[in-house]
Parts: sequence; structure tokens; C-alpha cells
Amino acid sequence: MLALIQKTGRLAFEWPQRWLDKAFGNTLNPLRHLGSMTIFFLWVVLVSGIWITIFFQTSVNGAYESVEYLSNDQWYLGGVMRSLHRYASDAAIVTLVLHIFKEFVFNRYRSARWFSWMTGVPLLWMIFPLGITGYWLVWDQLALYVALVSSEMLDALPIFTDSMARNFLSVEALSDRFFTLMAFTHIIGLPIFLVFAIWIHVFRITRPKINPPRTIMAGALLSMLALSMAYPALSQGKADPASVPDTLVLDWYYLLIYPLMKTWSPGAVWLLLVGFSMLLCIAPWLPPGRKPAVVSVDLENCNGCERCVEDCPFGALEMAPRSDGLKYTSEAIVLTNLCLSCGICVGACPTATPFRTRSALSPGIDLPDQPVVEIRELVTDASAGLQGNRRLLVFGCDGSSKLSGLKDSETAVVNLTCVAQLPPSFIDFILSRDLADGVVMAGCASGDCQYRLGAQWTEQRINRQRDPRLRKRVDTEKLALLWTEPWSGFTDTKSAIESFRNSLAAAESSAPGKDRSRFLRPAGVALAWSLFAVSAGAFTIWPPFSQLGDGNAIVSLTFSHAGERIEECHKLSQEELNKLPPNMRKPSDCPRERYPLKVSFSIDNKLMYNQALAPSGFWKDGESTVYDRIELPAGSHEFFIGMSDSGRTEGFDFQDRTRITLSEGQHLVVEFDHRQKSFIFR
Ligand code: HEM
Ligand code: SF4
Ligand code: SF4
Repeated sequence: MLALIQKTGRLAFEWPQRWLDKAFGNTLNPLRHLGSMTIFFLWVVLVSGIWITIFFQTSVNGAYESVEYLSNDQWYLGGVMRSLHRYASDAAIVTLVLHIFKEFVFNRYRSARWFSWMTGVPLLWMIFPLGITGYWLVWDQLALYVALVSSEMLDALPIFTDSMARNFLSVEALSDRFFTLMAFTHIIGLPIFLVFAIWIHVFRITRPKINPPRTIMAGALLSMLALSMAYPALSQGKADPASVPDTLVLDWYYLLIYPLMKTWSPGAVWLLLVGFSMLLCIAPWLPPGRKPAVVSVDLENCNGCERCVEDCPFGALEMAPRSDGLKYTSEAIVLTNLCLSCGICVGACPTATPFRTRSALSPGIDLPDQPVVEIRELVTDASAGLQGNRRLLVFGCDGSSKLSGLKDSETAVVNLTCVAQLPPSFIDFILSRDLADGVVMAGCASGDCQYRLGAQWTEQRINRQRDPRLRKRVDTEKLALLWTEPWSGFTDTKSAIESFRNSLAAAESSAPGKDRSRFLRPAGVALAWSLFAVSAGAFTIWPPFSQLGDGNAIVSLTFSHAGERIEECHKLSQEELNKLPPNMRKPSDCPRERYPLKVSFSIDNKLMYNQALAPSGFWKDGESTVYDRIELPAGSHEFFIGMSDSGRTEGFDFQDRTRITLSEGQHLVVEFDHRQKSFIFR
């Protein structure tokens, strides 16, 4: 089942990826740099955010006006920065979702990769609140909606004793202190945590791609700038707690789950969020799989050259002082829990050379499941049956199992875990021993190797830029590197191999590692970035969210009130006082527990709210909080509210009945005035 989902996902992903390969070239294809693109967009968010912060006022009255100033008076710079801030945040979500999807469908999240996967989950819990608090700060009608729904969700947690949502139901209830707190969370608190969390996310892998190639950065920035100019981000009217707009323009990237709160309870929404996060966390072990045997070091053959440590993409090797008394200073050590058994380190080891005699072909480091000696046997066996003068030996990687379909009298195929597992000396061996007329290395697309750095290291070793280098005597015209998709690029690989075979026969030159699709195709590139900008912008405005049904109004029932104490205070007699230790003596004993609050609210004689609310606090001595929002048609309605705080079973201690005509979009708040001991409808 999992394999089927992943295969379908891979096909869905590879289709656009291959089109973009044609436009951008493999190495500059944005779909191959999704993690680093997310970081780049976060940089854009940071820089544009600094500009906005300079002008932002952290007060109830100043917040909206200061943002409006940027958009209207300073549209040429502040307005662009504001739009850039919004759209880059959305673009970060687009690339982030694609990043997660890709890691999942390409199976790059299991085994030792669980760490990167699992540390990605807290990033989601930071990046979304970061966006949400940003929308809150603008203090327009959307901000009010975000504030109310977020507070309703937070109120469902047993953190606050009072209702947080009540703070957003009237202008009087709001304080500047709250804005300062929100600004601190959005501008300083969450970004600091995010940077730290990204560092943890990538720190276990070597040479993480933190920055995308410059052309991608330029394209990403230009597309966001174009979007900002074409469709500037605007506010949706100053927040007014007295009215509720029927439709809102919602940023679905950040606020996707908010509309759920219209029909779901906050508890159900929390369950969805926490459940999804937990599922993500345990995904690397669903179902548990067999971990292939990890590499092992043979000290007798290890000279401590460190090349394996240099080349391991997962930090699974380190050097340690020599433990066997040989003349070398250090030896390689395998950190077994980090090793993915890719074999790239074997390809890096200078002792893994097929020219050694059979008995001596035991390299310093080797993969137990496919040792170098076995690869040499596979090579000699496979080439033995080849005929003609265009004989090819094709090395494919783990995912290229389809390559087996190429086998014929002129073509032999040897599958490795990663092509970088093959030490370059093997190519020399094959050509100098005339085992084949040409060698093809067919691996994952450059920059997107299943084992991160395998394709890059192979290219550098073959191009004699990295140890172990291909010997100078090897004729590189007899060698082709084909970086195509391991799963679906079979047709491309097949035709490329045929043209290489023909070039061999015609003695044409074919430079190793040459990536013919590297030249940018401007029209395709422009189209791709435009589509990206449209996708980043589209769901920030469409579809509009209908907050309130046509012709409806809202009633919020909200107050906190403490029930009476269950037991009266009792004056202690001298005799009772004498029985107590001196430090516990007080004139009267007041049991703290209070009665629950009983509240009943009906509209046009229809019961809408009827609850007994327990007092808050550990000692059950705090206030009880009433909060509910009810949507109803505009027009004249009769409201009744009754409350008892004395534990009585019949009737109410306080009650009010009134008729009010509500206009469309009106927000009526029903409160309790503690001083007057009466209800207020306003
Ligand atoms: C702010 C959000 C995120 C950013 C900026 C980010 C960035 C990155 C970067 C730069 C890499 C290194 C890529 C490389 O050099 O090969 C990476 C790797 C990875 N990320 Fe993320 N990531 C984010 C969120 C996530 C999430 C939410 C998940 C999954 C739940 C995830 C899963 C992974 C995995 C599994 C790898 C390791 C890939 C490998 O070993 O080949 N990331 N991420
Ligand atoms: S590359 Fe080989 S010889 Fe060099 S340290 Fe690693 S195992 Fe030892
Ligand atoms: S097999 Fe791969 S992951 Fe394991 S040590 Fe070698 S290079 Fe690193």
C-alpha cells in the first residue's frame, strides 16, 4: 500500500520535474532544491520584515494605520516590502509542502533519515504560527477573525483560566500590551526558534544545501517582486468588533484549518493537528523495515586517509586514533545508527581497486551486502557475454532497476546501491582489460541524488577534481555519465545510451559529465516562474471565505463570574484556635470552593446555551467563564439570559429579557456587569 502511494506520488512529481529539467537543466531545476528554497524565502521574509518593523506601531490604534501608511503613502517601497513579506511567506509554504512530499514519495525519510524527518515536524509548528501571528498584527477584519478563532482554539486548552477570545469582542477590552506581546512573538520569539530548529534539522547531514543556486534565488526573488507589483497585498478594513463582514479574503496557505472551526469543535481541530503531527513523527517506522547491513572497516587495509569521512553524505563516519598499532595515525570508525548503506565511502577508498588480486581485494571499508570483490565478479561475468565492437557496460543505481531491460548482446548492466559506490579504478580496469568498449554510469539526476552527494562526487572523481581521481590514461570519450531519474527516466536513459554507443562507433567525442540541458531556456524558465508566482499568490485570495451567511448577524455570549462560596466563613472559637499550631491560627475559616455557574440563553424562546460551568482553579475557587458565538438571521429577536451563582436548582439569581433588532453583519455582545449586577446587550 505504502509502496503504491509512493509510486503514484513519484510519477505525479516527476512529470513536472522532467518538464522543468528541460527548461532549467537538472542542476538548476527548482524542484531539486526545495529545502534550500524554503530557507531562501524565509530570508526574503526576514529582510522585508525588518523594513516593515521600522514603521510598525505596536498599539491598538497605531497598528492598522502604520501598515496602511506602508501600503498607501509608501507604496513604492514599503508597499512592495509588505507584499514581498506576504508572498514570500506563502512561497515558503509552497516549497515546504513540496519538500515534505518529495522526501516522502522518494522514500528519503526512513532508516537513518528519521532524524531529519522528525526534526522537520516542529518546524511546521513554528512556521504556521509565524504566519498566523503576522496576519494578526495588521489588525484589519481578517486579523480580528484570526484573533477570535485562534483564541477560541487556545481557550480549549487548559492553560488560561479566563477566556482569551473575550479580549477581541470590544475595543475597550484590547490593550497595547497585547500588541507588544504579539509583535515580540512574531518578530523575535518565533524567528529565533525557527532558525535554531532549522539548524537542528540539517545539522546531522554533511554539506546540507542551505542556499539554492544563484539563478534560482534570482528567479524566485524576481517572481515574488513581479507578483508584489502586480497584486499588492492590502488590508481588509480596520478591525471593528461591532461588525462581522460576511466574506473574508483568506490566506489558505496559513489559515486552511480556520474555517473548520465553523463546524468543528476546537477539541476536534486540535485532535486533527496533533494526530497529523504524531502520524508524521512515526511515519519513518510505518511499517518497520529491515535496515540493510552497514559498512564495515577492515583495519588491516585502512591507511587512515580520511577520504571516506570526507565523502559520506550522512556524517556516518569519523576518524579515531589508531587502535591496532599500525604505523598510521588514525582509522575510520562507522557510526552505525547514521549509516544508510549507500556505499559512497567504498567508492572513495583508495584501497578498493579491482587490480588487486582476488585474495587481496579487501578494501579498508566495504558493504557486506555487495562487497567490492563481488562487484568485480559481476563486472567480469556480465562483460564475458558481450559481442561486437560497441560493447557497453552500464552501471545503474538502486532505483534504476529498470535498466536491466537494456541487457542484450552489446549491453551488460550492473546495479549498485549508488553509482558513487564504484571506485573510478573500475573504469580503468574495464577499459584497460578490454571488458567493454564503453562504460555508462546512469544515476539519479545531478543535484538530486537519492543519497544526496553520490552524483556530485562521481562527477568530480571522473573529472579528476576529487580523490580518488580517474587515472589520466583512461580515455574519457569511452565514458558517459547519465543523470536521469532513477524511477521514470528510462526512456531518456535508453536513447542517451544508444547515441553514446553510436558516438563510440563513429569515434565521436563525448565529454564526460556533460549535461546538455544545462542551458537555460528563457521562455520555459519565465513561464515556470510565472506559474510559481501565480500558485503562491492565488490561494492567498481565492476562494473567498464566507464567514457569515447572507443576511445574518452574530451574537457573542461572553463573561466571567465567580459563583458564591459553598460554605460561609466560620469564626473560630478560642478552643478551636488553641487546637491549631500557632502558625496556622487565623480568626475565621473560609472554605474556598464555589458553586458552579448555571447559565441559560435563549433566542426567540429557543434554548441556545444551557450549561453549568465549574469554577476555575485547583481549589475550585476561581471564576467560571462563559463563551459562545451564535449566528442568526438579522432582524428583530427576543433574547433571554438567566444566570444562577448560588447553587439554587430552580430559577435564576440574575436574568434579563429584551427585544433587539439586529442589522446584517451586526455583532451583538451579551455581557454581565459585575458592579450593576445586571446583563448588558451591546
Ligand atoms: C522550515 C521548514 C524546512 C526547511 C527550511 C527545510 C530545509 C531542509 C534542507 C535545507 C535540507 C537539506 C537538503 C539537502 O542538503 O539534501 C532538508 C533535508 C530534509 N528535510 Fe527539510 N526543511 C523543512 C521542513 C521539513 C519538514 C517539515 C520535513 C518532514 C516532516 C522535512 C524533511 C526533511 C528530510 C527527511 C530531509 C533529509 C533529506 C536527506 O537526507 O536526503 N523537512 N530540509
Ligand atoms: S577511505 Fe579507506 S583507507 Fe581511507 S580512511 Fe576510509 S577506510 Fe581507511
Ligand atoms: S555507506 Fe553511505 S552512509 Fe554509510 S558510511 Fe558509507 S557513505 Fe556514509
